[in-house]
Amino acid sequence: MESAALGAALMAVGPTATATAGAGGLAALALAPCAALVPVALALWAWSQSDDKSRRAATSIRKVWLGYKQRREFLKLREERARAEDDWDMWLMDFKESRHRARFSVGKEVGGGATSTVFEAFMCCGRRVALKVFHRKHTFSFNNEKQALQRVGAHPHIIRLLESFEDPQEDGLVLEFCNRGSLYELYLSCDRYRMEEIIVSKIVSQVVLALQHLVACGIEHRDVKPENILLDDGGDAGDEVPLVKLADFGWASAEPGPIPPSGVGTLWYAPPELNPPVVGVDMRFATGGGKSDMWSVGIITYLLLIGHSPFHLAVEEDEVMLLAAKGQVDTQTEVWNELSFVAKSFMMKLIRPDPVQRLSPSDALEVQFLKTCRPGIGSIGERGQESFFLDRSGGRQLL
Ligand SMILES: Nc1ncnc2c1ncn2[C@@H]1O[C@H](COP(=O)(O)OP(=O)(O)OP(=O)(O)O)[C@@H](O)[C@H]1O
Ligand SMILES: [Mg+2]
Repeated sequence: MESAALGAALMAVGPTATATAGAGGLAALALAPCAALVPVALALWAWSQSDDKSRRAATSIRKVWLGYKQRREFLKLREERARAEDDWDMWLMDFKESRHRARFSVGKEVGGGATSTVFEAFMCCGRRVALKVFHRKHTFSFNNEKQALQRVGAHPHIIRLLESFEDPQEDGLVLEFCNRGSLYELYLSCDRYRMEEIIVSKIVSQVVLALQHLVACGIEHRDVKPENILLDDGGDAGDEVPLVKLADFGWASAEPGPIPPSGVGTLWYAPPELNPPVVGVDMRFATGGGKSDMWSVGIITYLLLIGHSPFHLAVEEDEVMLLAAKGQVDTQTEVWNELSFVAKSFMMKLIRPDPVQRLSPSDALEVQFLKTCRPGIGSIGERGQESFFLDRSGGRQLL
């Protein structure tokens, strides 16, 4: 049926072409390219009228071709990687033993921590992913992170769980890949470890949007820190502000429960209610509603604007916890007075020992420091906003 329709289409072209050639002249010349398109258009029309079977056949051929092209690109990538990495053969040998890992072409190590090692990897279709392989099997972190990410689902500012596996040898999570490292690496690369207020505002507002979603899902992250905030392409204002994604849900919790004796999360970023009790300080605080994570947001904001932790004067772990329990932020540091009023008040509304007194994620998004700087609102190049956010004139609130 398809070839008959094609024949009819070609016959229909004949007279058009002859007429064009007979007329000669400039007009005919101008029309020539259009005439050449007629058979193609007619053939396409005839094809679209043909029965479902042939259309399906054509679609399958296209799919096979695309699959072949993808596979070729993937093999090319793998070869390049094999040449670049000395230990490639060793890794390949390692994977053969693991039934599930064998589905991935694993590249370089991109990070790791106390519980896992993270590799860049490619799926058979060529998609780049992060493979988080846990050091031990059946760990609390693995199960916790998997369940939390499943519950959280898809959100632009939260790392997406694509798959998980539990091999006889190891447990692993397959996550979307973030191309630009972590916020901690960005912080280390800054001049005097300091960022401009507008950049900090745009980064922090993305974290707060992620936390607002967590509250809606009934989850608290409990380990928000620069190492767990990953950066990717596709952020606001071109390349200057990266796309931010919250990662590492190993400490996440769905219900506020008893705090283990050694505390939860990471010392420098953990709120008083997640630390072990401090002698002499009453800390019967409730958790929940995203308030614990908002404390960490306050600490991160301070770190990025000032260049060190608000508790940097502490030497021992106990001292950090004591300063946190009392909410004693170092405001004597020289840089503090250079900050705008809105930035300072934002931090002070977060670094408060009593969670009830802290801003929730939704409250924080309404505060001036973040309000005009949500992703997509304003841009770094806008002078009006810049002068407001970079105001160093002793805390004058311009907006
Ligand atoms: N999806 C990802 N894309 C790119 N890099 C990643 C990804 N996930 C993790 N990493 C890198 O690996 C590092 C460690 O990841 P993660 O925090 O999830 O592991 P962890 O073992 O739980 O760490 P820790 O126990 O120290 O908190 C991150 O700081 C980051 O540099
Ligand atoms: Mg981590």
